Amino acid sequence: MTAIAPTHALRAALTGAIDRALGEADVDPLLVPSRQPGADLQANFAMKLAKQLGQPPRALAERVLEALGDAGGLLTSAEVSGPGFLNLAFAPDALARWGTAALADPRLGVAPAAEPQTVVVDYSAPNVAKEMHVGHLRSTVIGDAIVRTLEFEGHAVVRANHLGDWGTQFGMLTQHMLDSGIEHLPDFAALGVLYRDAKQRFDADPAFAETARLRVVALQAGDPTTLALWRDLVAVSLEHINAIYRRLDVTLTDEHVVGESFYNPLLAATVDALLEAGVATESQGAVVVASSRFTNQDGTPAVLIIRKSDGGYGYGATDLAAIRYRTTDLDADRMIYVTDARQAQHFAMVFDAAAAAGWTEGRQVEHVPFGAMLGDDGRPFKTRSGGTIALTELLDSAIERAQAIVDAKNPDLDAAERADIAQAVGIGAVKYADLSTSRQRDLIFSFDRMLALDGNTAPYLLYAAVRAGSIATRAGETSTVVATITEPVEQALLLKLAAFADVLDEVAATLEPHLLCTYLYELAGQYTSFYEACPVLKADTPEQRSSRLALCTLTAETLTRGLGLLGITVPARM
Ligand code: ARG
Repeated sequence: MTAIAPTHALRAALTGAIDRALGEADVDPLLVPSRQPGADLQANFAMKLAKQLGQPPRALAERVLEALGDAGGLLTSAEVSGPGFLNLAFAPDALARWGTAALADPRLGVAPAAEPQTVVVDYSAPNVAKEMHVGHLRSTVIGDAIVRTLEFEGHAVVRANHLGDWGTQFGMLTQHMLDSGIEHLPDFAALGVLYRDAKQRFDADPAFAETARLRVVALQAGDPTTLALWRDLVAVSLEHINAIYRRLDVTLTDEHVVGESFYNPLLAATVDALLEAGVATESQGAVVVASSRFTNQDGTPAVLIIRKSDGGYGYGATDLAAIRYRTTDLDADRMIYVTDARQAQHFAMVFDAAAAAGWTEGRQVEHVPFGAMLGDDGRPFKTRSGGTIALTELLDSAIERAQAIVDAKNPDLDAAERADIAQAVGIGAVKYADLSTSRQRDLIFSFDRMLALDGNTAPYLLYAAVRAGSIATRAGETSTVVATITEPVEQALLLKLAAFADVLDEVAATLEPHLLCTYLYELAGQYTSFYEACPVLKADTPEQRSSRLALCTLTAETLTRGLGLLGITVPARM
């Protein structure tokens, strides 16, 4: 049994009371944190209902209050104030009961979604034969946090790694392999060399460019020799990509790769379906979908090219085949695409076309855009010579810097453990810096900032989680009961702990992981206030000591679970 969070229980009680008192069913009571001393929450429904019902808000609030009573022992005080808010304060023992139940619950008091959905999350999606760049890092980290949160909420999540494994560059690469007698690439570095050489030839030699183009046709037609070479390119790239995934501790594996090539056999039928539905039209030998919303600079409607005049298909066609597949074969209720904001118009046009074709009716389709990654200087994140920064090196530097911090802070731990901690802190810092910024904003990448021990950073939260957890260890006692709540800071901490479920709901709805980061940061702060004001090991009575230990444990578990949903692992010690 999941313990129902007090705010959830109160919301339900209020909705019931509004129904009984006013005959209005399913009204959202509009609960927000209260700023009144002595109150925890404020309900704002009366102001909204007053307009609808044409009655004074205070009178409505009074009637609901009468029907509400103490909400089954949940409240210790409730009163109408101002123009018609309800000020509500939880009964300490109701909160304590919740705390005890949450501590016994592996889900920490978070109820699974009442209506589980099938959700496809399209994220990471790097390109074969190229280095993963910082944009892919953002997509991978943000997408993985979204996936973990939705899964924890009880949804059936389908990870879709829309790998860029198809397209004209593979003609050039496989042709160059054939010409140079390369059948197998030993590693990703060799692929880099191959790419550079093939591109040079392609740009300099028109005859090669022509054979490369024919090679694409052979690849698309399934020529076995060409396919074998292409598979080798994909395999070598995936080794590189998977190594980064493992270092980053993201949940993507080979089984989630559904690359662009997967949709190749579905493209022709997709185009036919769009033509038949009258969504796509032929234009100068090409097939296009004209947008009713976007225009080019010259004022003509923007078009999504579905099939080029040479018969080739592009990125847009693949995305339309993918959305069709996700609705028909996967029967997705919700489809989420995590890419940088520059692809916003592309996705809007894909979604419009799919909607016009009737594929997405009754389903949610969302682009989750994110901003660019900038250096400390506020300029695009590049190497000094203007090249893209290799992710492997970026992660190496993060871990190296974390190592210096851990060595200084924990000289007494043995070297192997310090290395593990540095790994967790370094990777955690890179991920947390990305996730804690509102994703639409550009992200300033600063090692100093992300590794700071104070502020809204991974090191701060990891230390907080470890410290809260280690008190019970030091006490040599596991306490499972939150019994006496005497201090306001204890009550505030419990309320914050109980808000975990609300935050996860919000992240699942808005796909904004920074809301969870802010919550965890505030929780850590609330815990510090509690810890400073309330002696734990030296509490006045054994009962109080045990109750406070339980609060420490629940805080540690909530921080650990929350960080886990962001893809960040808390080490055993720090
Ligand atoms: N491979 C693309 C890129 O690197 C991202 C693909 C995103 N997903 C999609 N369904 N288009 O920009």
